[in-house]
Amino acid sequence: MTTTLDDTATTDGTATVGTSAADIEFHYDFGNDFYALWLDETLSYSAAVWDGIDPAEPDTTSLPRAQRAKLDLHLDLAGAAPGAGLRLLDVGCGWGGLLARAVGTGRAAEATGLTLSRAQQAHVRSLGLPGVDVRLESWDGHRPERPYDGIVSVGAFEHFATADLDAAARLAAYRAYFERCHGWLRPGARMSLQTIAYDGVLGGDGPVGAFVAAEIFPGAVLPRLGEIVLASDPYFAVVLVRASAEDYARTLGAWSARLLRARAEAERLVGPDGYRRYRRYLRACEVTFLRGAATLYRIGFRRRDEPLRPAA
Ligand SMILES: C[S@@+](CC[C@H](N)C(=O)[O-])C[C@H]1O[C@@H](n2cnc3c(N)ncnc32)[C@H](O)[C@@H]1O
Repeated sequence: MTTTLDDTATTDGTATVGTSAADIEFHYDFGNDFYALWLDETLSYSAAVWDGIDPAEPDTTSLPRAQRAKLDLHLDLAGAAPGAGLRLLDVGCGWGGLLARAVGTGRAAEATGLTLSRAQQAHVRSLGLPGVDVRLESWDGHRPERPYDGIVSVGAFEHFATADLDAAARLAAYRAYFERCHGWLRPGARMSLQTIAYDGVLGGDGPVGAFVAAEIFPGAVLPRLGEIVLASDPYFAVVLVRASAEDYARTLGAWSARLLRARAEAERLVGPDGYRRYRRYLRACEVTFLRGAATLYRIGFRRRDEPLRPAA
């Protein structure tokens, strides 16, 4: 079944499916200054690309380099080569690192970012990036005036369904996302997706998953690769799949180390309990990737000219 969200989309920026705006703000509006203590200077809040980066290099230089490599990989997968000057959409733009990189390198001339976090929107606006429009808007409420040349979404797909949906409803929600992206893109366009996914476990990952779901990311659920492929297949051909649990484990290790070094300032900003909760979350997620319960996918897509009839 294909879900068409035209009937259900809201116009007030809230998501009709997936993590609620309140749950998003619970996590992402915890404090821009706090996140800036332990993320890199691009404020990328997703796994970096560590290929060729020496483990002995200090995270002060290696993490920003690995994050920039991640941004460039996704821009390449979306067809936004340096100087291409595309019209680009970033679904779940966070604090704007990819938008800044896209317009700063001429890969995009116009870039729109969607987020459900007011703190993130305020931060991106404060950067005053030329050609960038950042909207407090869910993907299912987005109505662009003109087609895009490319779409990127990094670390947001985990919010596009909720744990209470059964398998069919989850697939319908994911399929609705790909259907919507297909409608927004010009013929022949490329799209890129990065998401955490369940790997070795079905449906959940025990106490670590329960802690993260209750105390860190309420209202989020991880997809499985099969669901992504099934949901996207009618609208997009897959041109690349890269799995790298190691990339997320190493990113989480770097974040943990930076948070540990910034302990005094972190406790001043979010209190000892907030500091402890984040330390535990970063470590727990690192272990989840290291033991293979979850993995990370980077997927490149090419828009199909005509959608196929859904296989399921
Ligand atoms: C983990 S952050 C990733 C941010 C950024 N892409 C990065 O890599 O740093 C997830 C982002 O997804 C956004 N998000 C979650 N659900 C969304 C939805 N339904 N529509 C648009 N953005 C959403 C959040 O507001 C947040 O900006």
